Amino acid sequence: MLDLNSVSKNFSGLAALTDVSFDVKNSVIKGIIGPNGAGKTTLFNIITGVFPPSKGTINFDGNDISHKRSDEIAKLGVSRTFQQTYLFKTLTVLENVMLGRHYRTRSEFFACGLRLPGARREEKLIREQAMECLDMIGLAGKKDRIANKLPMGEQRYLEVARALATEPRLLILDEPTAGLNEFERDDFLNLVFKIRDMGITILVVEHHMKFIMKVCSELVVLNFGEKIAEGTPDEIQNSPKVIEAYLGVEEDIDY
Ligand SMILES: Nc1ncnc2c1ncn2[C@@H]1O[C@H](COP(=O)(O)OP(=O)(O)OP(=O)(O)O)[C@@H](O)[C@H]1O
Ligand SMILES: [Mg+2]
Repeated sequence: MLDLNSVSKNFSGLAALTDVSFDVKNSVIKGIIGPNGAGKTTLFNIITGVFPPSKGTINFDGNDISHKRSDEIAKLGVSRTFQQTYLFKTLTVLENVMLGRHYRTRSEFFACGLRLPGARREEKLIREQAMECLDMIGLAGKKDRIANKLPMGEQRYLEVARALATEPRLLILDEPTAGLNEFERDDFLNLVFKIRDMGITILVVEHHMKFIMKVCSELVVLNFGEKIAEGTPDEIQNSPKVIEAYLGVEEDIDY
């Protein structure tokens, strides 16, 4: 489904990623791990078109997306959440999810503004579909709450609901359990499995090793912008190269 070929990214002299290649097969949950600054978010930013790679190519479902814009990549079926939650803070829970849905629909902006009948019908449909996403995520009962009044755990869920509203085939999660407690993290794990069972492929960055080892069937390890290992959670936990890369930040290895 997703194929990265020798992807590199330089930021004015700093090599954030160097020749990273791997693929993501349909319907798997694949994890990216690595110490702070390893290039994980940069990789996600490149896949989702925030900026292009300095070198290398990225294919999604047979399309070369290396130099496509974010909105074009989203339309092809790639959606994401952010390391720092990125919600419309003063809008309601439902409005946040509806905005995720909006770009998929036909009505021009001005038609919505004039509230033409076609646009009204479409808005009703968007509302219903957004409610389905909230239902699935367990936030339907809080649809009228203001987004930034929700506890952090629920804001993370809301971001996932909004990403799902775009009907992605690949969902990219950047540290989705940051700020969650142990119980919330277990809940989140079940949510990730539920999304995978809907046929959505998942690429996830996480620092919580217990979570990532349970949730992923395959892992890629980045260190200083380079891929140093790839394999099953078992293979990764026993890789001397990986253990060495994490030395000095042993608190991160909490299997
Ligand atoms: N837009 C940018 N401009 C300049 N440098 C950047 C930019 N984005 C990332 N970097 C640099 O690239 C390197 C990799 O950063 P990145 O955010 O990808 O790491 P990360 O693996 O996501 O780390 P963390 O686990 O802390 O989130 C860092 O040295 C960072 O400072
Ligand atoms: Mg990051």
